[in-house]
Amino acid sequence: MADLDDIRDGDNFGLNTPASTSGFYLKGMDGSDWGLKNRMARIFNPESGRTVMLAFDHGFLMGPTSGLERIDLGIRSLVDYADCLMGTRGMIRSCIPAGCTKPVCLRTDTGTTILTEMNHNTLISEEEAISMNASAMAAMLAIGDAATEASTIANFSNLVDIGNTYSIPVMGVTAVGKDMARDARYFGLASRVCAENGASIVKTYYTEGFEKVVAACPVPVVIAGGKKLPELEALELCYKAIQCGASGVDMGRNVFQSDAPTAMIQAVSAVVHKDMKPQEAFDLFETLKNEG
Ligand code: R5P
Repeated sequence: MADLDDIRDGDNFGLNTPASTSGFYLKGMDGSDWGLKNRMARIFNPESGRTVMLAFDHGFLMGPTSGLERIDLGIRSLVDYADCLMGTRGMIRSCIPAGCTKPVCLRTDTGTTILTEMNHNTLISEEEAISMNASAMAAMLAIGDAATEASTIANFSNLVDIGNTYSIPVMGVTAVGKDMARDARYFGLASRVCAENGASIVKTYYTEGFEKVVAACPVPVVIAGGKKLPELEALELCYKAIQCGASGVDMGRNVFQSDAPTAMIQAVSAVVHKDMKPQEAFDLFETLKNEG
């Protein structure tokens, strides 16, 4: 029974401090539920408003590609430097220790591989995402691909319904349609379709005119790195995207295929969170690499 003899009157009402009415720090999230915002705050650093997501979901399409042969060895050493881990349920369960407290963006669609026709995907169950304590769920939209555009948008819409039920943000992954030009018009359309369908995060590719892609997308945009580039070029790509308003990166090959992946992810992080210039970040990369 509650002790009723010592009920003290409160005296710390902060009467000179009005309750905050300012909005959430990430764009497009004000109308979202507390749980969704809380999960977004795990992924996006509240000080910079940005994130370095480490993408290692490539294997479900292409098997043990270079840098991902042994996720338990290669990726594990990068975990401390990432803000969020993006992978499939199989790799996360088998290769990432359960004691790891980094937020997980779970690849929640799965489907055909590079051996057949790509992008014929379906969703895994929401119970899986919930049981894995996912901070976000990711699914691909093949905008502009006649064979799979409709089914991937339907998948995505289903996933947003599920995400909204459980307050789990959903990230739209834009796959480039076979016949699409990789320009701002295409990526602007694809990103906007993700947001129109309820994405809380959009992952797309940097291109000339990227500021328009970001401006027309009302939720945070992160860029994929794409194929492996020389490190300085990859850092320039990150820098340009951030200066155009991107909220971070969801980067894979340009980190885990680097000669020095731990040095590279730290250099990327400096660009993303500290607006470090590409040459300075490259010098940091070289220094960290030489330190071994
Ligand atoms: C592609 O479907 C995957 O979602 C990758 O996670 C994505 O392309 C990012 O990886 P990368 O930086 O290697 O392009």
